[in-house]
Amino acid sequence: MKLIARRTLLAAALALPSVGALAAGLTMGFSQVGAESEWRTANSASIKAAAKEAGITLKFADAQQKQENQVKAIRSYIAQKVDVIAFSPVVESGWDTVLKEAKAAGIPVILTDRAVKVADPSLFVTFIGSDFVEEGRKAGRWLLERAAKTPNASLNIVELQGTVGSAPAIDRKKGFEEVIKTNPKLQIIRSQSGEFTRAKGKEVMESFLKQRDKKIDVLYAHNDDMAIGAIQAIEEAGLKPGVDIVIISIDGVRGAFEAMKAGKLNVTVECNPLLGPQLMQLAKDIVAKKPVDKRITVNEGVFPAEVAAKELPNRKY
Ligand code: AHR
Repeated sequence: MKLIARRTLLAAALALPSVGALAAGLTMGFSQVGAESEWRTANSASIKAAAKEAGITLKFADAQQKQENQVKAIRSYIAQKVDVIAFSPVVESGWDTVLKEAKAAGIPVILTDRAVKVADPSLFVTFIGSDFVEEGRKAGRWLLERAAKTPNASLNIVELQGTVGSAPAIDRKKGFEEVIKTNPKLQIIRSQSGEFTRAKGKEVMESFLKQRDKKIDVLYAHNDDMAIGAIQAIEEAGLKPGVDIVIISIDGVRGAFEAMKAGKLNVTVECNPLLGPQLMQLAKDIVAKKPVDKRITVNEGVFPAEVAAKELPNRKY
């Protein structure tokens, strides 16, 4: 009797689809911002590899930094009746209509990397990504400590902002300013978008350097790629990056560690792009109707040039 009961239980258990089996048929539509930076390349690779590993069919579209392309991609995922939509929004605003369409179609939406500003927070299930305000604060704190070594010196800062209207550009500016305003000797004298790319970072830095009315002491770049582009501009202007101009940036990509090793960049604040495995797990949980947190953040460090040589071999992106 006991044996039969056990067999029945086993058969019942085998008949039930496991979470893995549920995931096997799962399709995710993912709209990526673009391929504007080393960070983004690592992020896309992480998402593609993790989908494969999790047995999730991934429909992936690169929006080339254009919101209209993301809206089109999301609408096409709705039409294709995917199980879950994930996307990294290029800018914060302007998502209400398309997210209402996804909700009406009963398709859950996961935000990755960047946040949106919507009137109704139920338009997305969860948001996984870094705390960009905190990243800006970390950059500011590093500068405060450095400035404390020369308390009488005023420092002129130039800022290379990320994509206009994007969450990382808005938040990294906010966090940095919040911290540096505690020292009136630290002043941002120019601030302009370098669109998160090396080419634009170089171009904007060139124009900053041409305006000779004030000496530039510090560059704060919202990502490593813009800092690397700016380093080229600084060298071409006959100055020593990392020495004549102190350079602070965000992301922690290998290119930044190489620049720090070469003494051309002073510090990078980490922003982890390897979100793929957590994203796929979230998708499985949401489709299986398990509760998930509304906001999932990532633990990240600060890497000054002094540790670059030791840390470089450990970097995964
Ligand atoms: O949203 C994350 C930011 O986008 C990264 O800091 C930047 O490199 C990327 O393009």
